[in-house]
Amino acid sequence: MQRALDFDKTPALGVPLPFLLNVPLFALLAGLLATWAGPEALASRWSGTTLALTHLWTLGILGSAMLGALLQILAVACNVPTPGIRLLVRWVHPLLTTGTLLLAAGFLWWWSTAWISAVLFLASAFVLYLGTVAWGLWRHRQHVYRGAREILVPVRGALASLALAVLLGASLATALGLSLALPDWLGSHVLWGLAGWGGLLLMGMTFQLLPIFQVTEIYPRPMTRWMPLLVPILLLAWSALEATDGLPRLMREAVELILLAAYVLWGATTLQRLWTRKRPTPEATTLFWYVSMLSLLACAPLWIWLTHGHGTQASLVLGVAIIVGVLGSAVNGMLYKIVPFLLWKHAQDSISGPNRDPAMARVYLKVLPKMATYIGETAARTQWAAHLAMTLCWLLAAAGWQAARHAAGPLLIVSALLLAFNLGRALLRYRRALRAVAEAAASHARQPL
Ligand code: HEM
Repeated sequence: MQRALDFDKTPALGVPLPFLLNVPLFALLAGLLATWAGPEALASRWSGTTLALTHLWTLGILGSAMLGALLQILAVACNVPTPGIRLLVRWVHPLLTTGTLLLAAGFLWWWSTAWISAVLFLASAFVLYLGTVAWGLWRHRQHVYRGAREILVPVRGALASLALAVLLGASLATALGLSLALPDWLGSHVLWGLAGWGGLLLMGMTFQLLPIFQVTEIYPRPMTRWMPLLVPILLLAWSALEATDGLPRLMREAVELILLAAYVLWGATTLQRLWTRKRPTPEATTLFWYVSMLSLLACAPLWIWLTHGHGTQASLVLGVAIIVGVLGSAVNGMLYKIVPFLLWKHAQDSISGPNRDPAMARVYLKVLPKMATYIGETAARTQWAAHLAMTLCWLLAAAGWQAARHAAGPLLIVSALLLAFNLGRALLRYRRALRAVAEAAASHARQPL
């Protein structure tokens, strides 16, 4: 059962916004790094530049957006407010941002101090975040909305996966920083990070939010019930098989195949839902969802290519398809729903008070922009086109096409600048709206009674 969202529970603007604004900033940084490194950037999955780019994407772009959006979703979709949320954000946002930059510096310059500092910053950020959110989930477990199960089960799985991915990543980075032998945990780190944290969170969001915001049919009940449980079980099985010596590789590949089939089924269902949605014209966010889910379907042939002996190249393309295509597109598209809504909502809240005068309400309605005008559809679609070109180029670059390797960085810069411009203009409109409200209130107060 899906439930409408309770927007009155929306946290302060300063809660999700810093995380969401990290998206264009880190995208710009990743674009600059890829441009500076040139064709080298996507030449091998093991190069320092590629690993730095990977974490600018996974922590700076995707991680930031997902952590910020989750605080919002837990409050409005599940009735789970996070305790001490403003203080939490004041600490977690700078720790995450600095930690990500340090980790990228560690990979770029193979620099132990940066790795060890990154571990300290990132571990503190995630312990604080995960601890506080887990405490909120536990404390409000009795007051969770009926029907929020569709989102809460995958969210819990995503948070547990994030904790594991961070633990494994921090152990790897510590080993690199202290020049110790690397533990054989890379596969589990990647799988828990991408298929667990990224995949499960996205799945939960679609179950709850797609029917509301994209006006689609709701998902089949067996899927919403079993898929979020099946994925963590498969990830556990995969990690257990990987940790056990002497077992045939085929067993791990069988688990990978079931995991892939589960995600492909969800992707195909999402595409079908989007295709048959009740609104005929797709919005920019819908187009981003299409790119995301088509990239997910593309993972199936890529995985087959990978298991047929083209390991290094195929894994790089698969990584780009998941990080840039599936998760990057969904995050970018969601910004066009979340940011205008937040600005519109907080602008509306700035005028609501106990003694609202009806004459003033009419004045305010005139000066406050409508939600759709914060980011125009044409501007969002233009950025979508740039994002699509960038995604295709990154895939071709990872597959080894030299011209695409030169263009990958500049195209990401273009996409990031357009996104920054769209978000920046929305923020300016919001500030202008608040100023107009204040001026209207002041001129009303000056009028003789
Ligand atoms: C939770 C989000 C994260 C995701 C999705 C993620 C994803 C990845 C990916 C895709 C790779 C590349 C592996 C390959 O090419 O096979 C990787 C490697 C690595 N990650 Fe992460 N990562 C995350 C967080 C972290 C954190 C928080 C740290 C450290 C504090 C970290 C440390 C590392 C290290 C050290 C490697 C490279 C190990 C080596 O050279 O063998 N990761 N990660």
